[in-house]
Amino acid sequence: MRQTVFVSKGVPQRAAELLKKQGYRVVRGTSAAREGRGAAAVLCLLTDKVDAKTMDAIGPQLKVISNMAAGTDNIDVAAAEKRGVSVANTPDVLTETVAEHAVGLLLVLSRRIVEGDWFVRKGKYKGWKPDLLLGQELRGKTLGIVGYGRIGCRTAEILQKGFGMKVVYHDIKGSGVHEACGAKKISLQELLEQSDAVSLHVPMLSSTRHLISKKELKAMKKTAYLVNTSRGPVVDEKALVASLERNEIAGAALDVFENEPRLAPGLAKLDNIVLTPHIASASKEARDAMAKLAAKNIIEVLENL
Ligand code: DGY
Repeated sequence: MRQTVFVSKGVPQRAAELLKKQGYRVVRGTSAAREGRGAAAVLCLLTDKVDAKTMDAIGPQLKVISNMAAGTDNIDVAAAEKRGVSVANTPDVLTETVAEHAVGLLLVLSRRIVEGDWFVRKGKYKGWKPDLLLGQELRGKTLGIVGYGRIGCRTAEILQKGFGMKVVYHDIKGSGVHEACGAKKISLQELLEQSDAVSLHVPMLSSTRHLISKKELKAMKKTAYLVNTSRGPVVDEKALVASLERNEIAGAALDVFENEPRLAPGLAKLDNIVLTPHIASASKEARDAMAKLAAKNIIEVLENL
């Protein structure tokens, strides 16, 4: 009998096509708990919460949950493990795209590109001035990467090789393979104190929730920027709003939010912040590769049972 794969509604059609071509019965829907009953696999998005209750509703034949994302924080991985269900994700294929977005956000901040765009649109541009919207050069400045995995390391490489930044990093894991990027590992406190730009690349764990809060923001230089392309709750958004209102740091750029898609009160009113709607991995190349890999991950698990 053909096995059923529940494919969440927003997953690109090409992923469903790949599974169909492989002979699976594909059911598309919005709720894995309701429409995914009897499925051997679930292909979901980071916006789909897959908890123990959902897994039990799908049934004991469930073998794999494949997330079309690098993160797996929307899935109760411990509950899956307990039920013998594999959890798969799509790392690597989005590394370049997310790193490019982090670099882009830093450039937008340091050269005040969004502010400049609004300035022109609002008709405020009345002629060239030597001190109009002065930003900061990146060459020779210190970049602090928090979470030195694939994306953190690639972001560091682009900014080091292309823009002449010095790189320091903090990671709870050892240095190992990332020594290749030639960066120095230091404590989070030292990183915050030394960096001219801090870029966050940690996974969402209980230990990384509010990793950047009031105390950490206070430790940063007044001239420093904060960039977050990891997960929203890594930054205490309320504390960030307060810090930016008092100009305790020079600016921040967020691609992710604590309570997506809602924003903390006051966040959108600030001039010294740049906001993008969780699009760090949104290149055609990355999203296409993520969809294909998420489908392939299911095929690999089900074919190798
Ligand atoms: C991921 O894959 O975890 C990204 O946040 C998606 O944009």
